[in-house]
Amino acid sequence: MRIVILGSGRGSNAEAILQAQQEGRLGRGQVVQIFSDRADAGILALGPRFGVPAAFLDAAPYKTKLDGEAEQHYIATITACRPDLIVLAGFMRVLKLPFLARFEGKIINLHPSLLPSFPGLDGIGQAFRRGVKITGCTVHGVTLDVDGGPIIDQAAVRVEKDDTLESLTEKIHAAEHALLPAVIARLSERAP
Ligand code: GAR
Repeated sequence: MRIVILGSGRGSNAEAILQAQQEGRLGRGQVVQIFSDRADAGILALGPRFGVPAAFLDAAPYKTKLDGEAEQHYIATITACRPDLIVLAGFMRVLKLPFLARFEGKIINLHPSLLPSFPGLDGIGQAFRRGVKITGCTVHGVTLDVDGGPIIDQAAVRVEKDDTLESLTEKIHAAEHALLPAVIARLSERAP
């Protein structure tokens, strides 16, 4: 199962995926390419470390979506990678048609809350400020309904009395690092 990872940030979840692959815990999954919409994103440094091609893909002029020529460029470039699965690991842009139609059923996203609670930006902070006692992370299929696609799996994290936003963030990241590679491994076993 050929995997393309898209991310905008430090790439700790992409690292967890690559680490799992290195340790034989990614099933039949193989990361073939990493792309980032930010030239300075930490995720791009994983390429040389793990021997996977990693490249900046310009998504200008927009800040939070993928549209127009940039979207066409993403579609063509990612199509050339022949992906079976596209993993959004902290990719901070909303995807829509025609991108979603081109890769229908092949895109999964990681979100740092128990969806459908706290969709959108800052899922961890939203949950922390609301005072919930259990939050977590979700892997779901990507559809036009932002953060609303079919839920594939979730992991729960208990918010303890002495948790701060920082300590909760750490716990959720740890849960994400376990959940996402495990979901990918499972999906790969089902892939044709
Ligand atoms: C993760 O916590 C992921 O759930 C979140 O971005 C972080 C990326 O971290 N994604 C979203 O908020 C998507 N709406 P990473 O770059 O260290 O993997």
